[in-house]
Amino acid sequence: MYEKKLRELFKKNKKKAEAALDSGDKSLAASHYESCGDILMEQAKKKRGKAKEEKEKIAEKYYEISKNLNGESDSLDDEDDKRKVKTGDDDDEDFSDYVDRFVQESDTTWDDVAGMTETKRDIKESFALSAIDDKPAAVQGIHTILMYGPPGTGKTLLASAVAGSHNYPFFNVQLSHALSKYYGESGKIVSQIFQAAREKAPAIVFLDELDSIAMSRGQDLDEATRRVLSTLLTELSGFDAKNSDIMFMGATNAPWDLDPAVLSRVERVIYVPLPDVDTARKIIELNTIDDGIGLNVDPQIIAQECVKHNYSGREIKNIAKEAVREMVNDMNPELQELATKPVDDIKEYELKVRQLTEDDFYKAFDHIDPKTSERDLKRYKEWGEEFGS
Ligand SMILES: Nc1ncnc2c1ncn2[C@@H]1O[C@H](COP(=O)(O)OP(=O)(O)OP(=O)(O)O)[C@@H](O)[C@H]1O
Ligand SMILES: [Mg+2]
Repeated sequence: MYEKKLRELFKKNKKKAEAALDSGDKSLAASHYESCGDILMEQAKKKRGKAKEEKEKIAEKYYEISKNLNGESDSLDDEDDKRKVKTGDDDDEDFSDYVDRFVQESDTTWDDVAGMTETKRDIKESFALSAIDDKPAAVQGIHTILMYGPPGTGKTLLASAVAGSHNYPFFNVQLSHALSKYYGESGKIVSQIFQAAREKAPAIVFLDELDSIAMSRGQDLDEATRRVLSTLLTELSGFDAKNSDIMFMGATNAPWDLDPAVLSRVERVIYVPLPDVDTARKIIELNTIDDGIGLNVDPQIIAQECVKHNYSGREIKNIAKEAVREMVNDMNPELQELATKPVDDIKEYELKVRQLTEDDFYKAFDHIDPKTSERDLKRYKEWGEEFGS
């Protein structure tokens, strides 16, 4: 799996290097060729003897090409080119485009996050403390939060609500994506994200899948990941002083894989649990009644059923959607046939709906299996008792 990923990354980088050369961007080409070298070195680690040597030799070739392109040889024709490549002016440009893609305007508000009273309170308090200007030294502002918990419990939603409720720019970064897209350059990307956030501050920096760069199983860490990790640690050290207008939020489903150094640098560790009955009921209502489909069943009963089976917020939302689909199909058996008619007829079709019944929900339960097991929950609990705050 990992091998395959490396091969694909290598191909991608080589293609990009060639394209950059074609367009005359030597500096970009150099950085892609350097990544090619890094990837080959990584592959070499998995080999022995002659095969290892071969790989390393090819890697060296790529490093050599990269160096040449970077002006460390005399092969560049143009003075201007040389200056540009040597100072690396271009690099920042290349990545700032990429980094800009992470910035979103969030329109999520606290009202969009159903229930979760305690978790919301924790996060709101941390945010308020970080924003208050005038506080005694003994009152610590919280600028770095780690959220952990099962998938689909609203971690991303919470971060987006913090940003949206104050119209702060929201840097929403899927770390595995940043890692695979610019293998070997991801360290730079992380530091540029923080740089861009400082420029646009006040802002929220949200790094998702924090475990993908910070595995405590040190030996599995490849070179590129190690670089991202050390960049992140640098950014997080002295965070308060440097970034008083930035709030850092990290999220993970696997807190036990986190690097202890990352963990020690976050000021607040918050568990985002599976929904309780109240939260589950509100998520159901949000996706039915609030969206124009009534209920002919007590939502409390459906919510209790959801909690009993360990459904996450995302799964409950999907259950509501599936129940609606069951109802629509039940009420409109002619939909398939309708699809073959002229589009004007389809547009004028009057969709028949009714309130959702217990039966619709039970059919939905059959289609959606909860991902989180009792064993997972136990693991979160044990980890939280040791490391949570
Ligand atoms: N408390 C909630 N209120 C409203 N919607 C919720 C809630 N919890 C989850 N959801 C729904 O589930 C979706 C998934 O939530 P989100 O992406 O925030 O989960 P996550 O914890 O970040 O998951 P992952 O760990 O997989 O990244 C949300 O977009 C939302 O539609
Ligand atoms: Mg998420």
